[in-house]
Amino acid sequence: MSGAKPMLGDKVVIVTGAGSGIGRAAAQVFAEEGARVALFDRDAESNEETRELIGDSARAWTCDVSDEASVAAAVADVIDAFGRLDGAFNNAGIEMANKLVADLDAADWSRMMGINLTGVFLCMKYQTRAMQGTGGAIVNNSSGDGIIGAPYASDYVAAKHGVIGLTRAAACEARYTGVRVNAVLPGLILTPMVEERLLGNPAFEAQVAPMVERHSIGRFGQPEEVGQAACWLLSDRASFVNGALLTVDGGYTAR
Ligand SMILES: NC(=O)c1ccc[n+]([C@@H]2O[C@H](COP(=O)([O-])OP(=O)(O)OC[C@H]3O[C@@H](n4cnc5c(N)ncnc54)[C@H](O)[C@@H]3O)[C@@H](O)[C@H]2O)c1
Repeated sequence: MSGAKPMLGDKVVIVTGAGSGIGRAAAQVFAEEGARVALFDRDAESNEETRELIGDSARAWTCDVSDEASVAAAVADVIDAFGRLDGAFNNAGIEMANKLVADLDAADWSRMMGINLTGVFLCMKYQTRAMQGTGGAIVNNSSGDGIIGAPYASDYVAAKHGVIGLTRAAACEARYTGVRVNAVLPGLILTPMVEERLLGNPAFEAQVAPMVERHSIGRFGQPEEVGQAACWLLSDRASFVNGALLTVDGGYTAR
């Protein structure tokens, strides 16, 4: 825990996609900084593993962020369990289909939009309702691909650009909601999405060498480094930060 007062002391924070990678690491950072964390993931088993790693300050809910009824029920359960909501890290997402635009199926496109864009919208809708009146903060996990393009990734790039539009639009409503809304834009982060699935895919492998070069810091990122940035944005230390796009990418998008 850093400093005398934990950054998220007494706050109740939802983390979506908490069963793996950035979501799991972020939930651990938030708990270390004093938060009680509500873990959402569609994979009950891995989500439960995260809950066990954190201990008593965490509760787990099986939730598919692309399903409105599932999101509405899980957010209502969090309020029942913890009595209130102060923040959320909307992180759940899937990787690109690794196809050129000309080869991309409409089904690939719809699946991507349903989870990576509509999923963020649905979570924000119910989280904002829960925090309206008491105030709070939302951090959405976009990507460097939210501000630049990449080959074989039009589905992902379009969804992540959409998350940035959604973040900015909702930030403009802060005077009505009392909720600050910001985004983190990670570079390549060594999570199961990347290490177990993308790095074995020939379409993605071809891009790795140029990507290494563009991460000016000289390495790829660790999931907790994104968690630390999200933690600060959720905390009262970022009380005047609203509508910001915080790159956490070792300089990837600075070039
Ligand atoms: N790893 C990277 O390099 C990188 C870079 C930029 C942005 N991101 C973004 O970070 C987020 C997390 O990625 P990660 O690398 O940790 O991936 P990951 O695959 O390791 O973890 C993603 C988690 O989200 C969950 N999930 C997927 N669909 C869901 C749904 N419909 N409802 C609820 N949970 C769902 C999965 O079960 C999994 O636990 C994603 O939004 C991703 O696009 C990742």
